[in-house]
Amino acid sequence: MPFLTVDHLTHAYFSTKSVTTALEDISLEIEEGEFVSFLGPSGCGKTTLLSLIAGLLQPTSGEITIDHQTIHRPHKRIGYMFQQDYLLPWKTIEENIYLGLKIRRTLNDFNRTLALGLLDQMNLKETQSKFPHELSGGMRQRVALVRTLATNPSLLLLDEPFSALDYQTKLKLENLVFKTLKEHKKTALLVTHDIGEAVAMSDRVLVFSANPGRIKSIYTIPEHLQRMKPFDVRHHKDYNEIFQSIWEELNQLEDKD
Ligand SMILES: Nc1ncnc2c1ncn2[C@@H]1O[C@H](COP(=O)(O)OP(=O)(O)OP(=O)(O)O)[C@@H](O)[C@H]1O
Ligand SMILES: [Mg+2]
Repeated sequence: MPFLTVDHLTHAYFSTKSVTTALEDISLEIEEGEFVSFLGPSGCGKTTLLSLIAGLLQPTSGEITIDHQTIHRPHKRIGYMFQQDYLLPWKTIEENIYLGLKIRRTLNDFNRTLALGLLDQMNLKETQSKFPHELSGGMRQRVALVRTLATNPSLLLLDEPFSALDYQTKLKLENLVFKTLKEHKKTALLVTHDIGEAVAMSDRVLVFSANPGRIKSIYTIPEHLQRMKPFDVRHHKDYNEIFQSIWEELNQLEDKD
C-alpha cells in the first residue's frame, strides 16, 4: 500500500472578489522511501499542494492520507523545508536545530545527541555556537535541513530549498541531501524549477500544468539513474534525453499561458 495518497484533491482560494482554483482533481500515490519532484510553471499550485499535504491548509474537496490516516492538521511525521531557511537570528545554530524538537516537546538528551550528529554529518559541527548571520547561505540551508531532520519526520516536503544558492553549492547540497535521505530511508517531495535537479534527484518527476493546476504527466526515472548520486546522474549519457523531453513539455505549457 502507498505511504501517501492524494485522492481527487481540489483546492480553491476564496476572496471577496474572486475564486482562484489553484489545484483541480489531483490524485497521486507515493511509496515509502520514494523521492518525487514537482515541476511546473509559476502559479500551478506546487506550494499549495505541499501546504495541503503538510496539513497547513484544508482542501476544498478530496482527501490526503498518510499511512491510511486522513490529514486534517499538521502532522508530526511531516517535516517542511522552505526556500528561505527561517533560522532565528537571535539563537545559536545549536538552539536553532533544537527548535522543532522543542515545539514538539521532545527535546531530550537522546534527541539532542541525534541532532548534533546530523550537524556533524553536514560538516557544521564547528558552527554550533555561532549565530545564523555568521554562516553562508549554503551553510544556513544545511542547518535548516538538520533542524527538519532532527524531528525524525517520515516525510520531507522541500519547497525550492536550493533555489537561492549558487550553482556549485547547490550541486554539493543535492548530493548531501540525497545521501542523507537515502541513509535515513525518508520519503521526500521536492518542488523545484530546475529540471536537472528534478531528474538528478528523483525516482519520479511530476509535471504540472497551470490554471487550474493539474498533473500533466509523470516521468519515471530509469532505475540505474535512481540509484546514482545526483551529480553523477547529471553526467550520465541517458540524462540529456529525459531532460530534453521535460524541457519541451514545460516549454509548451508556458507558451499556452
Ligand atoms: N494565500 C493565497 N490566497 C489566494 N490565492 C493564492 C494564495 N496562495 C496561492 N494563491 C494562488 O494559487 C495559485 C497557486 O499558487 P502556488 O503558490 O501554489 O503556486 P506555485 O506553483 O507554488 O508557484 P511558484 O512556482 O511561483 O512558487 C496561484 O494562482 C496563486 O496566485
Ligand atoms: Mg511555490
